[in-house]
Amino acid sequence: MPMPMPMPCLFFLVHLLIILSTSPFRCSSSSLPSNSLPKGSSISVDRNDHLISTNLVFTAGFHQVGINAYCFSIWFTKTTEKNKAHTVVWTANRDAPVNGKHSKLTLNRNGNLVLKDAYSSIVWSTETKTTNGSLILQLDNTGNLVLYQVNGHPYVLWQSFDHPTDTLLPDQPFTRNSQLVSSRSTTNLSTGFFKLYFENNNVLSLLYNGPEITSVYWPEPYMTTWDAGRSTFNNSRVATLDSNGVFNSSDDFGFFVSDYGARRQRIMKVDFDGNVRVYSLVDQKQWEVQWQAFSRPCKIHGVCGPNSLCTYSPQTGRKCSCVDGYKMKNRNDWSFGCEPVFKSCQQKEEDYVVIPFVEYYGYDMDYLQNITLEACKQICLKDCTCKGFQLKFDNSYYNCYLKNLLYNGYESGFENSMYIKLPKRLLSYVPQRPTNASSYHCPANLIMPISRSYDVKHVNGSIKVLLLLGGVIGVVEIVLIIIFFSYTIRKDSTSTAQSYFPVASGFKRFTFSELKKASNGFSKEIGRGGAGVVYIGELSDDRTAAIKVLKQASDHQGENEFQAEISTIGRLNHMNLIETWGYCIEGKHRLVVYEYMTNGSLAESLSMNKLDWEKKIKIAIGTAKGLAYLHEECLEWVLHCDVKPHNILLDTDYNPKVADFGLSKLFDRTSTGEDSSFSRIRGTRGYMAPEWVFNLPITSKVDVYSYGVVVLEMITGKSPLQTQLMCVESSGREQTLVEWVREMLRGDNESDNRIWINEVVDRMTCGEYDTITLTKLVKIALQCTEEDRDARPSMSQVVNMLLHDEKDD
Ligand SMILES: *[C@@H]1O[C@H](CO)[C@@H](O)[C@H](O)[C@H]1NC(C)=O
Ligand SMILES: *[C@@H]1O[C@H](CO)[C@@H](O)[C@H](O)[C@H]1NC(C)=O
Ligand SMILES: *[C@@H]1O[C@H](CO)[C@@H](O)[C@H](O)[C@H]1NC(C)=O
Ligand SMILES: *[C@@H]1O[C@H](CO)[C@@H](O)[C@H](O)[C@H]1NC(C)=O
Ligand SMILES: *[C@@H]1O[C@H](CO)[C@@H](O)[C@H](O)[C@H]1NC(C)=O
Ligand SMILES: *[C@@H]1O[C@H](CO)[C@@H](O)[C@H](O)[C@H]1NC(C)=O
Repeated sequence: MPMPMPMPCLFFLVHLLIILSTSPFRCSSSSLPSNSLPKGSSISVDRNDHLISTNLVFTAGFHQVGINAYCFSIWFTKTTEKNKAHTVVWTANRDAPVNGKHSKLTLNRNGNLVLKDAYSSIVWSTETKTTNGSLILQLDNTGNLVLYQVNGHPYVLWQSFDHPTDTLLPDQPFTRNSQLVSSRSTTNLSTGFFKLYFENNNVLSLLYNGPEITSVYWPEPYMTTWDAGRSTFNNSRVATLDSNGVFNSSDDFGFFVSDYGARRQRIMKVDFDGNVRVYSLVDQKQWEVQWQAFSRPCKIHGVCGPNSLCTYSPQTGRKCSCVDGYKMKNRNDWSFGCEPVFKSCQQKEEDYVVIPFVEYYGYDMDYLQNITLEACKQICLKDCTCKGFQLKFDNSYYNCYLKNLLYNGYESGFENSMYIKLPKRLLSYVPQRPTNASSYHCPANLIMPISRSYDVKHVNGSIKVLLLLGGVIGVVEIVLIIIFFSYTIRKDSTSTAQSYFPVASGFKRFTFSELKKASNGFSKEIGRGGAGVVYIGELSDDRTAAIKVLKQASDHQGENEFQAEISTIGRLNHMNLIETWGYCIEGKHRLVVYEYMTNGSLAESLSMNKLDWEKKIKIAIGTAKGLAYLHEECLEWVLHCDVKPHNILLDTDYNPKVADFGLSKLFDRTSTGEDSSFSRIRGTRGYMAPEWVFNLPITSKVDVYSYGVVVLEMITGKSPLQTQLMCVESSGREQTLVEWVREMLRGDNESDNRIWINEVVDRMTCGEYDTITLTKLVKIALQCTEEDRDARPSMSQVVNMLLHDEKDD
């Protein structure tokens, strides 16, 4: 009796069959890869032909984008170690993939480069023409695919650099004729909705070109081009990212990537989510973001479509949800947004649902100044086209913005509320919302990746056996591809949040006894702060660690909350942030394990006068970078709230690393068990922003303020607390360090910096300082310590100012 064949065995056999049957087709006839294609020849999808640049960095060929769907593309030859995927930098036919059989790219004798789908239909061509001379298609070392005419000196007939897809390579000129257009999603590479281009006013802009509306969202539309630092006067309209990582555009826009100067592969890309990012290939492993246009992804127009609300947190990434009374239009695609579940315009039957702390940008049909809520409600009720209104408080009165479209809704954190008009019968179903920003939470709705399907065309194959074989292979391939895609899709749903946070290696949960042993019974204390005491310890793998024992938790401290917070902190990874290696939760014990810094804190180094000017400047820049990363990448979820020299640690080379970030929140939970993250005054006297005192909303600008004070302290050598005691104004009021420096600067006439510089700088600091850098640093620090938080720059602006300063010298 025949035994039924077990499944794994069958699978293995089929697999073997595939290998045996496909390898002769794929390998034997494929020619050696070259970097060029002569006139009259073709690159065929069946033979899996490639062009490879002479430096081996780039490959051009057919890239599989779906089942039996291929695009002619250029990609980095090496896959990234992390996810083994090709990084595609250019695509000829993104909107019209060709079949996996019989399709080919041919350099015709008449000079036209054509891509033909299986049944002779031309899906793409360069539309070039030449009657004489020899021709060659060549993949250059820069990743540029060039069609040269080579009689006499070579002449470029066509090049891929002139027709970018969504990616710009280093030194590739971006001109008035170029545009980068995002792909539809991470899995659907066809043309999406977001476009980078030079606008008619010569300004490099980002446009959302959606199914229903179009709007420019960068530079920020509420700013004038002048305020955005752009110039409209230079009509040369060129921009480039150079190989060092400097981007420069003719409209005066420019930036340095955060790993500026490092010799790495880079790309600049308009991502499917509408953000522009520069990525570097780090250690050949993975592409890491080194710059991005938007740190608040919800400010990108159109991301969630109409009638929706966009929320963002570093843990979960960006999320879209429908406004109450609306439902998602296309279950798989947020760009279509939401549609009402009711018939609008029933006037007397309507009322409002309030969404606090949100902002809907644009589409104001009217703007009413100094008006009461009730009056605004009535006006909107009477107007059929009014979908709702935004109420904003402006110093002493309310302004009302009536909306005829609900677009670009995002959590702003400011006390602006949106009133959405709904039929009364629906209102009873709407859940009561919390009225505090910190406890406001949106329903979870993931951005669904678009599933791919591509119609397999009928093959009029003449050989039946081949057809049959093909069928078998096809089925198995489909199974494999489905497995592959379900795997990648599963990964994709988290990738928006996670790919920017390389997970710190070795982040683990320790047991209490492990840490007790490591620290030799908590015997050597190396620091002490509001949140707890820090001990030095030796882990079992010989790493030296700083072990922080948080103050005793009260009984209702949630283990899950602690774990959630700590894993957020553990995910943050930046060269100017202390690395978190692990944590421990056991009973009442809450411990956090960090890397140990040999040179202690900035406070110690300052008190021992160990730093020269060069080190101090390095510390100022590094600290700014670390804080900028916390604020920008994480959208203020990780405010430090206690920036001071004790929390800036120095490694052997005096590179600064910010410590204790994220703990403020953890500690607060630990001590009160409540979610009121910012209800109590925190921070350290002397470094604290005025907002704490005046009970104003706490934003990332509190850290900017403290940073400014730290920089002034480094420059002057005076502690902000000392100064308050030393310098007493004539009025008898104590003067702060900030006020003192500001007064010195004010007394000075612009012509000679040296007078006040001499007064201000710490003469005990050794080494040469250059006046220009120092003046700039003082001015930045004073900007950071403005009373009015809106007048302070953001941390990333500070980094930019500091780096530009470095270069200008
Ligand atoms: C053919 O080549 C010659 C010399 O290279 C050039 O002068 C001539 O214009 C070309 N003819 C055409 C039709 O392009
Ligand atoms: C315009 O921009 C280009 C490229 O950045 C620059 O070379 C040129 O000098 C600028 N022209 C003027 C008038 O500023
Ligand atoms: C951009 O180019 C202009 C003019 O060519 C130059 O003055 C400026 O320093 C450059 N900016 C950056 C960031 O390199
Ligand atoms: C706002 O309106 C109220 C009542 O009409 C008026 O008393 C008040 O002066 C107005 N405020 C401003 C700033 O215009
Ligand atoms: C909102 O916060 C205040 C303190 O800022 C607190 O008294 C109040 O209970 C909070 N309300 C809710 C609903 O959490
Ligand atoms: C990809 O997006 C395009 C354009 O929106 C759409 O027409 C196409 O059906 C999508 N393809 C897949 C496989 O979802």
